[in-house]
Amino acid sequence: MQRHTGLSGIILLVGSSLLCAQQPPAAAPQTPVQLADATPKGQLKNPYADGDAASVAAGERLYMSYGCNGCHGGTGGGGICPPLTNDVWVYGGDDDTLFRLVAYGSQALQDKGYSRVGQEEVVAPMPPMGTVVKTADELWHILTWVRSNYHGAAECKFGCKN
Ligand code: HEC
Repeated sequence: MQRHTGLSGIILLVGSSLLCAQQPPAAAPQTPVQLADATPKGQLKNPYADGDAASVAAGERLYMSYGCNGCHGGTGGGGICPPLTNDVWVYGGDDDTLFRLVAYGSQALQDKGYSRVGQEEVVAPMPPMGTVVKTADELWHILTWVRSNYHGAAECKFGCKN
């Protein structure tokens, strides 16, 4: 009896140490909404440079695959929706604002206190895409492509300071 208890004790020990050795599952990548919610206003910063051809190409593929082109046109120059290529930025042209606009959509963005500061020819709400675009990383790639495609005045690339 004594021996039996000892043996099961050892088995238990080995078993639990095996359990402890297991790594926790890798955290799922953040969705755009999760990243926006977790980051204080003004602090979202695109980790990719728009001179990085591979990031730009990946961003363009994602832009097309998520149907952004259905509204903004295949080159981002506008269609039934505002162009993404000019120097008019509806809520501001900084990384933080663009990321939040795409993630939350116009309505939720306005509910968070943002208002239209620029006027495009088309005034309509942007749908929330922050649960459609799967990861924050994908959205950064898309915005990198948008940056690379900018055709407006150089000083207004990230929004005009006036
Ligand atoms: C159903 C149409 C529609 C789709 C799909 C759409 N957008 Fe938009 N988008 C809009 C509208 C309308 C606005 C202007 C929002 C406003 O005035 O509140 C806008 C604004 C923007 C802006 C800011 C433009 C500016 O000049 O300030 C960006 C950037 C943008 N969209 C990116 C995207 C991306 C990236 C996607 C795909 C993930 C996407 N949009 C999908 C309709 C759309």
